[in-house]
Amino acid sequence: LHPETLVLRGRVVTFRDNPFTCDPLLALYHEEDGAVVIRDGRIVTLGAYVDVHPDLPPDARIVHYPDSLISAGFIDTHVHYPQLPMIAAYGEQLLEWLERYTFPTESRFGDPVYAQDIARRFLTELLRCGTTTAAVFCTVHPQSVEAFFRESERLDTLMIAGKVLMDRNAPPALRDTAQGGYDDSLALIRRWHGRGRQMYAVTPRFAPTSSEGQLELAGALLAHDDTLFMQTHLAENLAEVEWVRTLFPARRSYLDVYAHAGLVRPRAILGHAIHVDEQDLTTCHHAGCALAHCPTSNLFLGSGSFRLFDALDPKRPVRVGLGTDIGAGTSLSQLQSLNEAYKVAQGTGHRLHPIQAFWLATAGGARALHLDHRIGTIAPGMEADLCILDPAATPLQALRVQSCDSISDLLFSLMMLGDDRSVRATYVAGRLVHERD
Ligand code: GUN
Ligand code: ZN
Repeated sequence: LHPETLVLRGRVVTFRDNPFTCDPLLALYHEEDGAVVIRDGRIVTLGAYVDVHPDLPPDARIVHYPDSLISAGFIDTHVHYPQLPMIAAYGEQLLEWLERYTFPTESRFGDPVYAQDIARRFLTELLRCGTTTAAVFCTVHPQSVEAFFRESERLDTLMIAGKVLMDRNAPPALRDTAQGGYDDSLALIRRWHGRGRQMYAVTPRFAPTSSEGQLELAGALLAHDDTLFMQTHLAENLAEVEWVRTLFPARRSYLDVYAHAGLVRPRAILGHAIHVDEQDLTTCHHAGCALAHCPTSNLFLGSGSFRLFDALDPKRPVRVGLGTDIGAGTSLSQLQSLNEAYKVAQGTGHRLHPIQAFWLATAGGARALHLDHRIGTIAPGMEADLCILDPAATPLQALRVQSCDSISDLLFSLMMLGDDRSVRATYVAGRLVHERD
């Protein structure tokens, strides 16, 4: 008896290097008629179909996706599952948006039945968009985390999530206490961190909603275990930055509030980081933490423009991933995030090459999270989280691809015109979890 062998045949695109530090075309691995061989949830072989085919076992199951791209699944480094029902809420910038829309929505997640329903819908949507790993904010309620991890465990998706810590400047029903938040987080860590593919992130919402004491206890949780993640928001909006200055007058910068509490370290993910200075970026470079670039959200809330190419400056590169930031973001599709990331780069005097863009959404995201030994690329030994992308999903795209004469051009048309309709199928640990139509 031997395990089943699954072979995905199609146009394989993945990465062998970082396209921000070398010629993008040299960073890309591209096989026009490729084969990805999967066994026991992992990739065992990658190559040209003609080369791989003779060595396949006779009972191998071959699934052919002609004219589609086979890519590593997308990685979303910053997203809020409880905000799915309030996506596209009209008319405010960050702080008013939180008060008016976000807090009322999140207050429903003390109900485990509701939390489970939204967690299930959220994960279904993610997989429809080809996203196989995300760093996910739950709410202040431990039940919201329990519901999320249960649904993720059922699908066997590799997910990072945590209970929001918030002990001030929020409605009473959404506040914890420094000690209560610590205790609840510790219980969830013991229950879920490293169980199957689930991983825990200590999750202070942002500096204004946590007392100094709560941030210190968040640091104490992290000090127990190097493998824990940390996620929060950093310098998204100018009014928020000013508020943090008045709340923490002794700190040099917003980032320093977190650094002082021991939160800036490998596996820390800081959302947005729009209004940061050179010293902050240098601190992030040395700390090994990640910044989550969330372009659809930043444009939607009018927060400002993330300086991607400053963050990635080869003199002191900072790890950067791509985030949808639902519900401030306007799409769960990382193709849509890349569309807006391209425009934000244009507006700051830079050109985001399509190969760099797809790296950010896959291998770069994995590297940002220190998970690049497991996910983000297609290579032997990697976990088989993959998406199948159809570059001609709509009549307009079918027309456009007729004039694509290079893989770069094809990837560019896909990221500018694509969305959930572009995803023909999604595989998690070698198992089909979404199929279009
Ligand atoms: N800052 C603090 N909380 C939030 C949130 O839920 N969404 C966004 N975009 N920014 C935040
Ligand atoms: Zn956010």
